[in-house]
Amino acid sequence: MSGTESGGGDAERALELARALDAAADWLGGADPASGWGGARLPREYHVGDFALPSASPGEAGESGIDLEADRAAVSACELCRLGATRRRAAYGEGSPRPLVLVVGEGPGAEEDAQGRPFVGPAGKLLDRMLQAVNLSRDTNCYIANIVKCRPPNNRDPAGDEKEACLPWLERQIEALRPLVILALGRVAAATLLGTEEGIGRLRGRWFERRGIPLIATYHPSALLRDEAMKRPAWEDLKTLRYRLDDLLAVPGDGGAARGTDGAPGVN
Ligand code: URA
Repeated sequence: MSGTESGGGDAERALELARALDAAADWLGGADPASGWGGARLPREYHVGDFALPSASPGEAGESGIDLEADRAAVSACELCRLGATRRRAAYGEGSPRPLVLVVGEGPGAEEDAQGRPFVGPAGKLLDRMLQAVNLSRDTNCYIANIVKCRPPNNRDPAGDEKEACLPWLERQIEALRPLVILALGRVAAATLLGTEEGIGRLRGRWFERRGIPLIATYHPSALLRDEAMKRPAWEDLKTLRYRLDDLLAVPGDGGAARGTDGAPGVN
């Protein structure tokens, strides 16, 4: 099966994309939770959104007036909340400077605290595979961040005042990065970004809009590592995200054909 054999046509192409996604989903549900996303990649020819947005030109970067590298340095010394006293390194965020997707987690764990990077522990490794399954990656077209940039001791949930103190950093990241879509991972990220008390079971898989940016939530990869049964609904959520992205990126009249790979390099 290939894009050229499809004979073209938006409907046919969409059907083939759906089939390709579902074929990839067959990889889910193995006994080994870590193997669930392995190999679950879409054939390249089905991706219309397989590229980063054009790199921010100096003019565009100036639009928000926000210098993320200056913010990163400020966060590394931030003491706006008590987490500043116990962290080893703040995990500010990393990825494409013009991401299709801004992925938002809860807060750094032990590994992230040691490395100063988001999602680099076991949950992060699973996250990378989940993103890869829908042709997304922090190296090309995603940016990864958290609600709080410093590790809550013993991986407890961040407290209300800690989230409140830290959120302006994320707001500035959103403003500067201007992602097409936000993916919230888990209850803390979803509920905080949406300003609700609802649980993730009710929030996941639905489209919201947050300050003009479409937002979808799914289960946190740590939850998927604990409970493999959650992988399938998470996969449905990722497909929903992928379809929306492809819709947002489709150029009317090009039949959904792939349009180059302007992969902006990832930044740490
Ligand atoms: N869990 C999160 O929510 N964020 C990370 O960066 C790592 C684990």
